[in-house]
Amino acid sequence: MSTATAVAHPNIALVKYWGKRDVPRNLPAVPSLSLTLGGFETRTTVTWGAPTDTVELDGAPAPEKAAAKVRAFLDLLDPQRPPCRVVSANSFPTGAGLASSASAFAALALAGAAAAGQDTDPVRLSILARQGSGSASRSLWGGFVVWQAGERADGLDSHGVPLLPADAWDVRMVVGVVSTAAKAVGSTEGMERSRATSPLYATWLAQAASDLDEGRRAVLARDLDGLGRVMEASTYKMHATMMTSQPPLLYWQPGSVACLQAVWRLRAEEGVSAWTTMDAGPQVKVLCAAADAERVAAVLAPHAARVHVLGPGGPARLEPA
Ligand code: DP6
Repeated sequence: MSTATAVAHPNIALVKYWGKRDVPRNLPAVPSLSLTLGGFETRTTVTWGAPTDTVELDGAPAPEKAAAKVRAFLDLLDPQRPPCRVVSANSFPTGAGLASSASAFAALALAGAAAAGQDTDPVRLSILARQGSGSASRSLWGGFVVWQAGERADGLDSHGVPLLPADAWDVRMVVGVVSTAAKAVGSTEGMERSRATSPLYATWLAQAASDLDEGRRAVLARDLDGLGRVMEASTYKMHATMMTSQPPLLYWQPGSVACLQAVWRLRAEEGVSAWTTMDAGPQVKVLCAAADAERVAAVLAPHAARVHVLGPGGPARLEPA
């Protein structure tokens, strides 16, 4: 029996992942670029060798669907594995609009590999984490991370690559939590629906590589306006693809639109370099300079149930035993 505890942070995509080229292996149709966020984290302990498989999430037995995903993920680490005990907790509210599956599978990959006495090289763990949830492949590293789509059928070249560490550029992501209701259609189902039915899907794929290049250049140049522009372009192309799926995927709520317009007004009227993004849910996230974060939080506050100001976070790490 051996035990390991890992901590990982969620990440927000700046250039988005939407669409798969291989569903069983969870290989993306497009490359993406993200910012790992500090402040919020998932802490996961894996005991390798327990009386039975058990999975606990936030202090209670995990719902069977989540527990089954965790068990299947541990089988990837070692198909001959012993029964394991997994205890995982998020420091942030579920439904806060931050992809908890990203930090969850990054922490599980690291804790599981360490508990099993396996290699914990982040590229190997990113390939594993990707198979739990695509966005998790980016949470092994801190700061700005590219998830290269890769070309291989076995997915061994589809993993995160660190671009700029957390302390290299002091930006903020201001999160306006519009609604904490569970999402209607999950990412995996939504992506497949867009691939099969949206007339915009081909354009989405065709423009993804150049958006990624533009995003990467802007990060390396610490060009907030340039990064914001391509982030908004990627965000609204993704949402247009979602909305033109059949049946349509509309993740926005009235409060989301109010937040977007408040930020665009702030940019137009006061010249604040603040840029919006949204994922498969109603929350609005705003990228800005550290000095502008409180101003951005103030314009979101009337339209959001809660506002969080988050800075860049570090890589997934093991807790000392
Ligand atoms: C809209 O990583 O949750 O947040 O691979 O099916 O688990 P699966 O999807 P997931 O999708 C994230 C989609 C997104 C954009 C992004 O994070 O890049």
